Amino acid sequence: MKTTVSLIKADIGSIGGHIRTSDEILDLCKKKLQEEKGKLLIDFYVTRCGDDVELLMTHESGVDAKEIHSLAWDTFKEGAELAKEQGLYGAGQDLLSDAFSGNVRGMGPGICEMEFEERPAEVIIAFMADKTEASAFNLPLYEMFANPFNTAGLVLDPKLHDGFKFEVHDVKGSRKIILDTPEESYDLLALIGLTDIYAVKRVYRKSGEISAVASTEKVNMIAGRYVGKDDPAMLVRAQSGYPATGEIVNPFARPFFIAGWMRGSHRGPIMPVAEKDANPSRFDGPPRIICLSFSMKNGVLSTPVDVFSDVSFDNARRQANEMADYMRRHGPFQPHLLPPGEMEYTTLPEVMKKLESRFEKL
Ligand code: F6R
Ligand code: MG
Ligand code: MG
Repeated sequence: MKTTVSLIKADIGSIGGHIRTSDEILDLCKKKLQEEKGKLLIDFYVTRCGDDVELLMTHESGVDAKEIHSLAWDTFKEGAELAKEQGLYGAGQDLLSDAFSGNVRGMGPGICEMEFEERPAEVIIAFMADKTEASAFNLPLYEMFANPFNTAGLVLDPKLHDGFKFEVHDVKGSRKIILDTPEESYDLLALIGLTDIYAVKRVYRKSGEISAVASTEKVNMIAGRYVGKDDPAMLVRAQSGYPATGEIVNPFARPFFIAGWMRGSHRGPIMPVAEKDANPSRFDGPPRIICLSFSMKNGVLSTPVDVFSDVSFDNARRQANEMADYMRRHGPFQPHLLPPGEMEYTTLPEVMKKLESRFEKL
């Protein structure tokens, strides 16, 4: 039996700024998906990371299935109505069009989906981030699937020893390329280090099985104006031919700088937190990531392990807070501020227009 796992997310409104969605919205989403359990859906899990609602669904309809996307879209639409009634901030902000045509791609929500033949004991890990963009996953995906200093299995496990394939998207140029590791590791790094241009979309085993998929939708490019960062999600398969869960989550024990944070225009650390602590508050951040690890049998999901709630991520949180203090000292200066092309939110064009006539030749 082939199972599909779909993780579809959207910011449809939040309490007290861009901090967190409401419990009533989450309850509404759970109720909507519960009505489809045993019909369209095998199982589901609803959560949130900051102001983003995350719908994790298992089913047999395949990737890009119209009925699953419609269910997600209708759920978000109803949630956005409730957000309006509750006076939540940014109600419906990621639902960019009223003309739904069967697929949420290009409509505002972020999507990651994978279809596969289940192993006897399938392990699925869902990562969900707020106040950042999809390329924030470039570094950890490289660590998980290509760096033997992170993933011991690349050296020690014959099933991992051949390496993996990375599907990289040029998110500005609308094109993609597949690169093999370890053979083309340096070429891969040459691309994915440029996080403003390239984002890893999928990782495959050399034999072709899907290993990881990330949401790479650029909400601002879709809308043609600032609506918020993409706040990506990602699904990763673990164990037995894939990196171990511990290898998959290890890259987040060492926080690194990413683009996003306040007004989608600042560089800051990504902070791994428990589900309940995904409330980006200081300077609308620092950017957060949560990680839920599930076992799955015939599409039925276990209760997840809230991986980053573990004490072994305490140091990462402390370090991320120190990195945040350090960056915040720069105020409106780079490198805290992103360069002009990467800022999601800027007065620069207006300032330049006003000052243009006053510039003199040197
Ligand atoms: C980042 C984000 C927030 C807002 C900021 C200003 O993705 O959503 O940091 O950009 O709070 O929000 P507005 O312009 O809605 O007042
Ligand atoms: Mg928001
Ligand atoms: Mg968000």
